[in-house]
Amino acid sequence: MSRWSHRHIIDLSNFSLEDYRSVLELANKFKALPQTGARKLPTLQGRLVTTLFFEPSTRTRSSFELAARNLSADVQSFAPTSSSLNKGETPLDTALTYVAMGADILVVRHSSPNVPALLAKSLEKAGAQTKILNGGDGLHSHPSQGLLDLYTLAYHFNSKEPTTNELIGKRIVIVGDILHSRVARSNLWALTACGADVVLCGPPSLLPEAFTKFVDNPPPGQTLDPIGQRGKIFIIRSLKEALHGADAIMTLRLQKERMNQNLLSDLYRYHVDYGVTHESIKWCEKKVPVMHPGPVNRGVEMSGALLEDQSICLVQEQVTNGIPIRMALLYLMASSEINEH
Ligand code: NCD
Repeated sequence: MSRWSHRHIIDLSNFSLEDYRSVLELANKFKALPQTGARKLPTLQGRLVTTLFFEPSTRTRSSFELAARNLSADVQSFAPTSSSLNKGETPLDTALTYVAMGADILVVRHSSPNVPALLAKSLEKAGAQTKILNGGDGLHSHPSQGLLDLYTLAYHFNSKEPTTNELIGKRIVIVGDILHSRVARSNLWALTACGADVVLCGPPSLLPEAFTKFVDNPPPGQTLDPIGQRGKIFIIRSLKEALHGADAIMTLRLQKERMNQNLLSDLYRYHVDYGVTHESIKWCEKKVPVMHPGPVNRGVEMSGALLEDQSICLVQEQVTNGIPIRMALLYLMASSEINEH
């Protein structure tokens, strides 16, 4: 396994192929642990992992906390509604409070993009050793979700050897509210890095044309793309055409909380045009898996019947795989030698 060089994990735009390989390899070892009866590892004994979620979460927070406990870390969890945020304390001062209590890793979720990156910078400036792991920031990035989706796909294609190689030449269709989705953005970095082509599908109000160039330039502050050649990104507006030749489908929740104007006039119409159902997946030439990061608006982006059909739908498997993926990230961060930030 290569040497891990990321002090904080904010985004996947700076992940190399080796990074993806390391995460998948380690997660696959952790996934096998329950079968060997060794659920808890002593690796993070004496370390404190704090989940600092300023925005609601069911899966991500619980799964980070379980992952940390599986590695024997102490876990501290912050509840925004009953916190001093209500007395006007800033996210930075809240973070510094947990740093002062000894947090080694802060897993941060916030509704504004770049809060985890800003916290990471501020903590470094303050001389703190605490590392930041982004648990989802606005519509910017959700690295652990991108990685668990990648692993779920690799595992689906080859459960014996679920490596990044499984993605080479695959055609992954992402359907829905791409504009407001941090999950889609993280998946775009991860999937194209591993050699998959991505077809984006959705109405123009939720999927601007500019997304075809999403991975062409690294974000501000990053000079180089560590990936030599990425898979391609296409936009196909018709779901029927988009699904032609697909190897997997990812659906996304309509992020109503991030829509500041009425971008969709009719949810029923949206379901007819973009909802993924047992009927629409017949447009793929073969049986393909359907994914969704959750939470699902049943009957909008996906039919309830498809969500419950575990022979096709990988939603529960994505949740299960979130734990070994987050164990891998915490493990790599806690045990790394830091070469670069
Ligand atoms: C996603 C999120 O919060 O970004 N959910 C998740 O973490 N599993 C997607 C969403 O909210 O739609």
